[in-house]
Amino acid sequence: MPQLMEKMVGSYVLWLALASCILTLASPEQQDASTATDKCKNLCRPEEACSFLNGTWDCFCRSDLNSSDVHSLQPRLNCGAKEIQVSLDKCQLGGLGFGDEVIAYLRDWNCSNMMQREERNWISVTSPTQARACGNILERNGTHAIYKNTLSLANEFIIRDTILNINFQCAYPLDMKVSLQTALHPIVSSLNISVDGEGEFTVRMALFQDQSYISPYEGAAAVLAVESMLYVGAILEKGDTSRFNLLLRNCYATPTKDKTDPVKYFIIRNSCPNQYDSTIHVEENGVSSESRFSVQMFMFAGNYDLVFLHCEIHLCDSLNEQCQPSCSRSQQRSEIVAINPARVLDLGPITRRSSASVDITDGTPSTAGFLVAWPMLLLPILLAELF
Ligand SMILES: *[C@@H]1O[C@H](CO)[C@@H](O)[C@H](O)[C@H]1NC(C)=O
Ligand SMILES: *[C@@H]1O[C@H](CO)[C@@H](O)[C@H](O)[C@H]1NC(C)=O
Ligand SMILES: *[C@@H]1O[C@H](CO)[C@@H](O)[C@H](O)[C@H]1NC(C)=O
Ligand SMILES: *[C@@H]1O[C@H](CO)[C@@H](O)[C@H](O)[C@H]1NC(C)=O
Ligand SMILES: *[C@@H]1O[C@H](CO)[C@@H](O)[C@H](O)[C@H]1NC(C)=O
Repeated sequence: MPQLMEKMVGSYVLWLALASCILTLASPEQQDASTATDKCKNLCRPEEACSFLNGTWDCFCRSDLNSSDVHSLQPRLNCGAKEIQVSLDKCQLGGLGFGDEVIAYLRDWNCSNMMQREERNWISVTSPTQARACGNILERNGTHAIYKNTLSLANEFIIRDTILNINFQCAYPLDMKVSLQTALHPIVSSLNISVDGEGEFTVRMALFQDQSYISPYEGAAAVLAVESMLYVGAILEKGDTSRFNLLLRNCYATPTKDKTDPVKYFIIRNSCPNQYDSTIHVEENGVSSESRFSVQMFMFAGNYDLVFLHCEIHLCDSLNEQCQPSCSRSQQRSEIVAINPARVLDLGPITRRSSASVDITDGTPSTAGFLVAWPMLLLPILLAELF
């Protein structure tokens, strides 16, 4: 059917969106296909017939399918966390005049070898759920990360003549994890942790711009006005996150990059928020694979130009441990804190917006302002202890 091919060259673009197929249904003609159906171990689709071929009974594409309506093509889209897969019905393609030599490929030709011939007369093309992979275009709006690509069909001998383009997109609701995966240069730190017999875990911690925890700060440094809130989120990835919860044991700010700096402003201490800082809000800690807290910049940065944030994490085995911290006023007073540096994630520098030119490239800022201003911060704390 050369006329059909010609008509379709470069002209048709089908749009396929997640969960909303706008294509119209081809009215399937249910005919004699059912007569021999019981001989096939699978139930054949309307486009298939149960036939005896090559020594076995199986569902084969019906040879009498004939369609000139490209909209009868109903691609299947599977938007996975790791992979995006588009599948096409070989029988419908056959009805449109594509032979066995049909080639399907994505925007990046290098992915064309990923075309798979699947069972039940489907062919599929798979791309990783990653920006730029296989020509994926990643767009973000306020609520979703959207991967867009185009599936093109051609016949093997005339591969440069694209016959049909099918645009498709997968939209993933932004959460902490997706937002970090899809941000270009999020301010994030990560740590791999092996738990005996339980495999390897990865913990990631990042700075977010608001309480939705889906807009990470990006670039070399977070720049905040002193009065603004800082939102810190950490996620446990890989490994058995159904059993292990993420617990932030200690989170503190230091004036230098050094996590062992003796000058520490505790935000979370022994798993509990610093009760003398009323701006601290721990949204989630120890109860799932995510931990989130917020704190006002001023409280831990005071008058300093740069601060660094450190969190010591613990993977809490919810089968054998009490993971949700119980925080009472009397409890945390003067407990000595022993911090395991191998379990500390570091973030920073965090820069005050108003600060004059500060060289942040080497990450070792002057600490003079920090040391002067720190005791002022502690004063309300000392006063609170007195009463
Ligand atoms: C039948 O078997 C031959 C050789 O095993 C194979 O090349 C051919 O593709 C098969 N035909 C079908 C329709 O499966
Ligand atoms: C398909 O249908 C069209 C018109 O309905 C007809 O002209 C054409 O010959 C048919 N092709 C085949 C292969 O049956
Ligand atoms: C495809 O691969 C070749 C080399 O393997 C590379 O030079 C080219 O840039 C790739 N194309 C795309 C679009 O990534
Ligand atoms: C973002 O895109 C998704 C998917 O297309 C859509 O459902 C959602 O409404 C969009 N959100 C905004 C804020 O535009
Ligand atoms: C963690 O492990 C992954 C591989 O599983 C590796 O790519 C990554 O660089 C590691 N990260 C760190 C901080 O060691």
